[in-house]
Amino acid sequence: MSFAERVIAWQAMHGRHDLPWQQSPESRDAYRIWLSEIMLQQTQVTTVIPYYARFLARYPGMADLAAAPVESVLALWAGLGYYARARNLHRCAQTVVAEHGGRFPEQPAALAALPGIGRSTAAAIAAFAFGTRAAILDGNVKRVLARCFGIGAYPGAGKGERALWQLAGSLLPEEGVEAYTQGIMDLGATLCTRGKPRCDACPVAEICVARREGRQETLPAKKAKKNVPERQTTMLLLTDGRRVLLERRPPTGIWGGLLAPPEAGDETIEGHVRRCGGRLLEMKTLPPLKHRFTHFRLTILPVWCAIEVMPHVAASPGREWLNLDDIQSAALPAPVLELLTIANALQGAPVGDLHTCPERR
Ligand code: ADE
Repeated sequence: MSFAERVIAWQAMHGRHDLPWQQSPESRDAYRIWLSEIMLQQTQVTTVIPYYARFLARYPGMADLAAAPVESVLALWAGLGYYARARNLHRCAQTVVAEHGGRFPEQPAALAALPGIGRSTAAAIAAFAFGTRAAILDGNVKRVLARCFGIGAYPGAGKGERALWQLAGSLLPEEGVEAYTQGIMDLGATLCTRGKPRCDACPVAEICVARREGRQETLPAKKAKKNVPERQTTMLLLTDGRRVLLERRPPTGIWGGLLAPPEAGDETIEGHVRRCGGRLLEMKTLPPLKHRFTHFRLTILPVWCAIEVMPHVAASPGREWLNLDDIQSAALPAPVLELLTIANALQGAPVGDLHTCPERR
């Protein structure tokens, strides 16, 4: 028996047949199938079921959803998470109404051009609603295929993902694509789970490479952890009690165009204080703050400096004084906002808490 024949036979006996979006006579209603597939994208069946029912009761058809205010759609989505799905759902309904006369196109490529519908979801909708022979490849299916066929490459992108798409397409049955599609989803969700797969009950165990070679734990391959470099920087929170001195970052590079505290660099703290026209009163090191960027990790070593400045002294070019009451609405990167919030809370701390550390650069 082929892979697909095994999956289809297993689905008939052990797969899921009574999910709300599978109920006849409307089970081939593309609107319902689409709604369920979007909800199921990153959420489990048991969580989805009550949301699906409420959604369908409120918006029984495409035109109802398209005409609704997006706020109402988001409110009904509240608790399901990944809210971009709800926004895209709404935009998709409006696009289908405006450009396709309120009915989904049948071609997977046309479906995949709509908001929120990726290649795999497009194939699932086409298979379930129109019986189109199109391959799905979601996370569960990637796991099943990577294990069964011993695909060792990372399945999330690049070569590994291309190999799996190719394989998924080549495994499609001539007939019964709906049962096959539902079957491979069910297999991934119920037997071929990430941890403790139930190979004893699996219809493809006999032909499974991972099972034969005992590689269920290591397939599919996990994403290689990049060794991201670590950087450290000392940031000076120069404050006169009311304001903090910030620098506008150059437009390119991290935090481009945003405001951030000056970095100590090679200059002494006293040098920095003199340069901003102030006199150092007290100094205090705050706990380090770690932040992860795509290409490196940054540890910020904050030094809080209470300074006295003459009111008429302007900040030097590229620098500005920000009122501490305005930090919430300023263009600050998230870690800087966090830092200033902590520093702000310390503003009222008794002077006895502060210690001087002139050697700190
Ligand atoms: N996950 C994604 N689509 C699904 C479906 N149609 N049935 C069960 N689980 C799913």
